[in-house]
Amino acid sequence: MAGFVGWAGLAGIAAGACLLCLPVHATEDGERIAERQCAECHGPGGRSERPDTPSIGGFSEFAIMDLLDSYRLGFRQARTVTLDDGSETDMATIVDALSEREIEAVALYYADQEWIPHEQPFDANLARRGARIHSVKCGKCHPRGGSVPEADHALLAGQWRDYLAGEFRDFDSGARRMADRMYQRYDKQSPADKAALLEFYVSAGR
Ligand code: HEC
Ligand code: HEC
Repeated sequence: MAGFVGWAGLAGIAAGACLLCLPVHATEDGERIAERQCAECHGPGGRSERPDTPSIGGFSEFAIMDLLDSYRLGFRQARTVTLDDGSETDMATIVDALSEREIEAVALYYADQEWIPHEQPFDANLARRGARIHSVKCGKCHPRGGSVPEADHALLAGQWRDYLAGEFRDFDSGARRMADRMYQRYDKQSPADKAALLEFYVSAGR
């Protein structure tokens, strides 16, 4: 999409080169990995029940693999998460423990799930303003309000507010890197414009 080749592409790694050698039962494998290693935080089928953790069920296979690469390659700093038993982990540690084949299988599993936007309260006026900014500045890469899996990026429409607000902060601080062409658009937005964009994504276009 719009020439973004993915973090692995930028780092010169052939991500997905082995897609055609996936065994037929890859989806079942993926489901098992997802239930054991992801669902505690990302929820059943990738629909997160924790507002600080993104829903990922329904993202495209490429998007999931690319996002996992961004932790693996250090383009994105993972946040420390404390589990119910008091232990700590983070996405970078989780990705490092997966083989390339497991990453492909789990990505395939999440791509098979349905994206269900979270219903959250929002400010309708602010969301309308955000919609206008989005269509000019962001819609090319995040079409239809960030609701199209085939665009191969994280879905935005109906994602959790707390999580998205954290990503905006991380983009602003540089803890998370952006594709250069996103940076050119994003960096020019005022704090008020960013607040409006966030409201638009939270509204899921309602
Ligand atoms: C301990 C909790 C936890 C576990 C377990 C976990 N994640 Fe995450 N995941 C997070 C949090 C929190 C974030 C967002 C914050 C960050 O960047 O660190 C995230 C972010 C992601 C993202 C980026 C989503 C986006 O919209 O940018 C993907 C993809 C992802 N996780 C996939 C997985 C997969 C696949 C597994 C299982 C192999 C997994 N996660 C296991 C907590 C977890
Ligand atoms: C040139 C294409 C492009 C444009 C324009 C663009 N983005 Fe992005 N966006 C991306 C890419 C690529 C990613 C990163 C995916 C990754 O980390 O692997 C991304 C990720 C994001 C994320 C993180 C979602 C998540 O859960 O990981 C947000 C939020 C976002 N963009 C908002 C915006 C906003 C707001 C604008 C307009 C001001 C915008 N984008 C314009 C390409 C673009």
